[in-house]
Amino acid sequence: MNKVGVIAVLACLPFVLVMGSIVYVVKIQPKKITVSRPPLGAAPTDQGLKKGYDLFTGKGCVYCHGPEGKGGTKNPNAMGGEVPSIKAENFTQEEFIEKLEVGVRHVDKAEASKAEPPLYMPSWKARLTHEEMGELYKYLSSFAPKKKDGDEW
Ligand code: HEC
Repeated sequence: MNKVGVIAVLACLPFVLVMGSIVYVVKIQPKKITVSRPPLGAAPTDQGLKKGYDLFTGKGCVYCHGPEGKGGTKNPNAMGGEVPSIKAENFTQEEFIEKLEVGVRHVDKAEASKAEPPLYMPSWKARLTHEEMGELYKYLSSFAPKKKDGDEW
């Protein structure tokens, strides 16, 4: 390379470096990842239900049992293919608390030969007080059909 050639290369160098770093930065920039938050259900207007709602959404019940406990989270090979809804009307408060304390380790399989469903109900004994479980029950009961005279629950 003659002298002129060397000078030309050197003169271009800053340009190449600047362009190179722009390309580098643009390419390396991670793509914007948007994580859509799963729906939590509307916050209750009744202040008496707020604590239960905060627990239901804050402790993660909502991610398995869906907004308002109505179900919908996929649980492959479970009966029905989903985590079941929680119907407060199926339990007395005491039964509900017991369910939470014990948890439900065993989820019935839809097909016996297939894999265990990945989601099961953990025990909440160490993570929730009885009072908090009562608040959860109260919140979930607000979605139960209205009690009629003579109904058992
Ligand atoms: C990791 C997922 C997961 C989380 C988190 C979770 N559950 Fe569950 N829960 C389950 C599954 C799965 C079952 C069903 C087990 C079965 O009966 O097959 C269940 C069952 C239940 C039942 C019994 C339903 C019935 O009809 O017998 C209640 C009540 C319940 N969950 C309440 C809660 C509450 C309240 C929370 C939050 C404190 C919670 N769950 C958090 C997965 C979860």
